Amino acid sequence: MEPVTLHADGLRLVAWEQRHLPDLARIYADPLIERFLVMPLPWTGSARDRYVETQRRHWGGGNPRWAVEEDGVLVGSMALTKSFPGEMTITYVTAPWARGRGVAQRGIRAVVAFGFERCGARRIAWDAIVGNHASRLAALRTGFTVEGVSRGGVNQRGTSRDCWIGGMLPGGLRGPDDPPPHYAVLKRQAAFFTAPQPVLETGAAGLRLRALRESDLGDLAKACADERTQRFTTVPRGYTRADAEAWLALSRARRAEGTAVLYALADEHDRYGGSVQLSLGEPGEAEIGYQVAPWARGRGWATAAVRRVARLGFEDLALEKVDWRAVVGNEASRRVAEKAGFTVEGVRRGLRHGEDGRVDSWIGSLFPEDLG
Ligand SMILES: CC(C)(COP(=O)(O)OP(=O)(O)OC[C@H]1O[C@@H](n2cnc3c(N)ncnc32)[C@H](O)[C@@H]1OP(=O)(O)O)[C@@H](O)C(=O)NCCC(=O)NCCS
Repeated sequence: MEPVTLHADGLRLVAWEQRHLPDLARIYADPLIERFLVMPLPWTGSARDRYVETQRRHWGGGNPRWAVEEDGVLVGSMALTKSFPGEMTITYVTAPWARGRGVAQRGIRAVVAFGFERCGARRIAWDAIVGNHASRLAALRTGFTVEGVSRGGVNQRGTSRDCWIGGMLPGGLRGPDDPPPHYAVLKRQAAFFTAPQPVLETGAAGLRLRALRESDLGDLAKACADERTQRFTTVPRGYTRADAEAWLALSRARRAEGTAVLYALADEHDRYGGSVQLSLGEPGEAEIGYQVAPWARGRGWATAAVRRVARLGFEDLALEKVDWRAVVGNEASRRVAEKAGFTVEGVRRGLRHGEDGRVDSWIGSLFPEDLG
């Protein structure tokens, strides 16, 4: 296949030339490239010297490779690679100096149309290392479906990483005026999960909310081995430090995926005193869970922390509603929920409750106006 130039709403997608390479080197020096791309780095030596020639050979093998230009300036790259007959995989990069103004999505639309119409693809595949919310958003915005997580599915310079996988079938492309359902919620959440987790002040004396960290694990294990926590929550029975380590790893993975936010309660000495978690569900909805360590109980911290994290959910995660549930008889949890503004709606019989099977549970909900 000979190189083909594409025009994409103000962008020109052209074959690579030597004149592009100094700016391509600047793109490849960006920290996001090291974090989310799998290519060998640093980008020097023969990989760089032979780049233009290699890209030309890819075209010859039916694998298009474009430099993306805007007003003659390099602003990114786009590629299609045959993965098996009928399927091509798309990859894209936007230069740090051109992000957030639709370069990726304009390029993706042109390249996907080229793949379906000119290369005979019946499916365009997409993947991204879990946590690459900007790539995921550009894919969703243009009509890709994220189909799941391939665990350890990509080798990044010798390390296995989980990756999101997805794809598009012919007819699936979305135009600039046709965002997917709930796009505004997805975009707010992508912005939140891309940034460092903010520390939250609560208004309760001595209490701050921050990310869970390794130095909390001893206290976390003690708190979860507490008799009440064991009775009323789904934490593993006979809780040990290994369980605490697994929980920290899981909560970090869920934050990278953008499916949950965990906050540790920290006292004036920064000692761990409990945790609050929002687990995201349907778009605009989340369930809250919380526990306070025995040594931090009785100070109103659970209520203050639940209110603050729920407010974060409404303001920063575009939630419309937060759900709560507790095993029937867990009076302390119910009091916290009601003081925080939740309305207890009733009893749901036989809800799944960890290893205990099914137990009757109180359920309740909180809407933004309930926070007052
Ligand atoms: C992923 C990447 C290509 C996106 O490039 P981009 O040109 O900034 O993307 P777009 O401007 O087309 O963004 C698409 C949408 O996502 C939004 N978006 C992009 N980055 C975002 C972020 N960090 N947080 C929230 N929203 C973001 C854009 O505002 C846009 O939304 P809109 O249509 O409502 O305006 C770019 O971040 C990048 O080069 N990352 C490093 C390389 C990489 O990860 N490539 C993909 C490998 S799979």
